[in-house]
Amino acid sequence: MKGIILHGGHGTRLRPLTHTGPKQLLPIANKPMSQYALEDFREAGITDVGIIIGDVYPEKVKEYYGNGENFGVKITYIYQDKPKGISHAIKLCKDFVGDEKFIVYLGDNILRKGLIDYKNKFEEKNTDAMILLCKVDRPSSFGIAELDLESNTIKKIIEKPKEPKSDLAVIGVYFLTSKIFEIIDRLKPSARGELEITEALQLLMDEDGSLHYDTVTGWWKDTGTPEDILHANKLVLDSIGKENQFVIDNDATIKNNIVIGKGTDISSDSTIEGPVIIGANCKVGSNVKLGPNVSVGNDSTLENCKIENSILMKNCKISANVYLSNSIIANGSQIEANNEQTKHELLLGERSQLKI
Ligand code: G1P
Repeated sequence: MKGIILHGGHGTRLRPLTHTGPKQLLPIANKPMSQYALEDFREAGITDVGIIIGDVYPEKVKEYYGNGENFGVKITYIYQDKPKGISHAIKLCKDFVGDEKFIVYLGDNILRKGLIDYKNKFEEKNTDAMILLCKVDRPSSFGIAELDLESNTIKKIIEKPKEPKSDLAVIGVYFLTSKIFEIIDRLKPSARGELEITEALQLLMDEDGSLHYDTVTGWWKDTGTPEDILHANKLVLDSIGKENQFVIDNDATIKNNIVIGKGTDISSDSTIEGPVIIGANCKVGSNVKLGPNVSVGNDSTLENCKIENSILMKNCKISANVYLSNSIIANGSQIEANNEQTKHELLLGERSQLKI
């Protein structure tokens, strides 16, 4: 079985964070979000992985994942010139997958329990496609499946319905066979100008193809907005110290629910309330209060600040007397000053500088 990770798209709802790289490389608990998909594939024994890269800094994706060797997989890169939809991206993989069954994983989706059970189910079943469903609070923001409860089958799939008749989202992990390619060939662009996967799946059903479903156990997260990213960060950090945790950093020290990277120095008069992850070669100076739910990237320096529910990426420097909450601070940002402590909510792109 082959795996495909979708790594394109413009990530407009995440600007300015996506001005300098694809959204799927934004870190959740100090790891690019698409790496969770890649690791799920590897754990499920799928090591032949195609990554679809788009027109937002595709070279950054190649630079990070290379040929896949460091991640235990073999990667083939496939270019999508413009974000023309999930079905369009899948179509580009026709030669890559050949006649094999394959799994398409949106690089901005994170699935708590990984792929192993679902992949095994798909392997055993004689079906044209399989999808995963998860209850959501805002069904009009997702592809939605209506079920026939008597026969336990899918009745209908609709992309972002204005008046949803169900709250079961079709999540961004699709189990497919080569049958989907000739269906995609017949799709027309949707109102948002994309070839939708939900329309391809509906057409498959209309033409008496078989579509099975399973429901997600554990949580699933689509990280389309800054709020989603902070929530995903909290959800991943929540697994620190638990039996079934995400592999976060092999070189780090883990104490209860705090992960501390190699070469990181923590002052004795700082307070850390987990779950928190601090990367390698960081300096957490005096008077720092960190946590809960904070990720700090490698090579960052913190002094005199209080930070909760936030993501600081790599090489950030905060030396102001600030209280940050629900903030995302991108690589190389600096916040300096020494005023009285006040609370701020920030969304800062790479290399931002604040003097407050
Ligand atoms: C896409 C799909 C949608 C699915 C969602 C899951 O939406 O079109 O059907 O429910 O991913 O993350 P998009 O992120 O393109 O709005």
